[in-house]
Amino acid sequence: MSPEIVLRLEAVAERLCTMDSERAVNRLILFVVIVGTMYYCYCLYYASLRFEENNWNSRPAKKIDHLYETDPELKKIHARMTSETDSLSSEVTIVTAYFNLGNLNKGKRLGMGGYTPERYKKWMGVFGRIDNPLVVFTDSAEIAQVFKELRSQFAAERSTIVLLNRTSLWAFSLAPQIKDIFSQPGYPKFDPNTINENYSCAMHAKFELVSKVIREEMFHTKYISWLDIGLYRAVVDEKHIFPIGVPPGFDENKVAYSGQHKFDPTLSPYQIIIEDRTWVGGAMFLARPEVMYVYTQDYMRVVEKLLAEHMMSTDQQVIYIMFQPNFPYQPRVEIQTYTTHSTDDWFYLGYTIKESWDFGLRRSVSILRFLHSLL
Ligand SMILES: *[C@@H]1O[C@H](CO)[C@@H](O)[C@H](O)[C@H]1NC(C)=O
Ligand SMILES: *[C@@H]1O[C@H](CO)[C@@H](O)[C@H](O)[C@H]1NC(C)=O
Repeated sequence: MSPEIVLRLEAVAERLCTMDSERAVNRLILFVVIVGTMYYCYCLYYASLRFEENNWNSRPAKKIDHLYETDPELKKIHARMTSETDSLSSEVTIVTAYFNLGNLNKGKRLGMGGYTPERYKKWMGVFGRIDNPLVVFTDSAEIAQVFKELRSQFAAERSTIVLLNRTSLWAFSLAPQIKDIFSQPGYPKFDPNTINENYSCAMHAKFELVSKVIREEMFHTKYISWLDIGLYRAVVDEKHIFPIGVPPGFDENKVAYSGQHKFDPTLSPYQIIIEDRTWVGGAMFLARPEVMYVYTQDYMRVVEKLLAEHMMSTDQQVIYIMFQPNFPYQPRVEIQTYTTHSTDDWFYLGYTIKESWDFGLRRSVSILRFLHSLL
């Protein structure tokens, strides 16, 4: 090649290069604008969902007063709540439990992670900061000790730690039956919901244990709530103590839950199981003791009914099934849902309660004190 041609080629290459880098910058700007617009639309969309009307909650509460005459246990609970009304505190008694089921195929990303006993142990740390009366059930002496240490900063009477053998529970006595149901040919395979019979049992145990706490008078408050060990996982690393109170706008005659999906009243029980459908998130539920007692009785009855029809999954499917208008056994109390309609509100009830407390906390810190703390 002659030197002239080489020079020309170099000039052309240079021009192409500057054009290329200009184009790259333009592309980058375009990319940022598109991503920014998409993110903005995404935020607007989720914000707009919050304005959706929650027509489920407009259903009137069912009254249970007439049941006192036919259910001596419920009558006794009601009598206690009425006669001790002045001495019972307006707090919420928290009930939780931990059974070591080994590693669960739940919460895995790209085949990694999963819910291991170590992860649950980390999540438990929050219970050292929850300033409520607490009842913990576990079948592990090690976990009982962990809770004892976590709760040592509260007065001793605020924590009851019960070590039990899970074979003594109704819920775990169902394991062989559930295992048989899950191994039916063609039964859906959602891990762990319709695979691990012990996981299903642990979900039913929530209702049995809350019912036990109420029946055996293991509480001295006007409200009671089930709380999964992992619900407050997002705030494990915070430091401040907080109480779990009654959620804003709470209906005293209903059971409060997080609303996960819109309620579809046209589903059959089997459809809910094979499509692994959910309506409310099972991690937390809160009610007055009388309402809660009736609710847990209904739940356990429906579990037995579904087992008799060779169907089972977790609490979230059982609850969806029992509230279907065509289901032969209708629950005697209603559910109140707390939701932003985002379909990712598994734990919303717990976080909205904590948020209203944190909000009060923030307001009480004056700007001056805040500025002072910066110095
Ligand atoms: C629990 O009870 C079962 C049967 O009653 C027994 O085989 C098992 O050893 C018990 N487990 C513990 C930890 O005590
Ligand atoms: C459920 O628990 C029983 C008793 O501890 C155990 O033998 C069984 O393997 C467990 N099932 C699963 C699916 O892990």
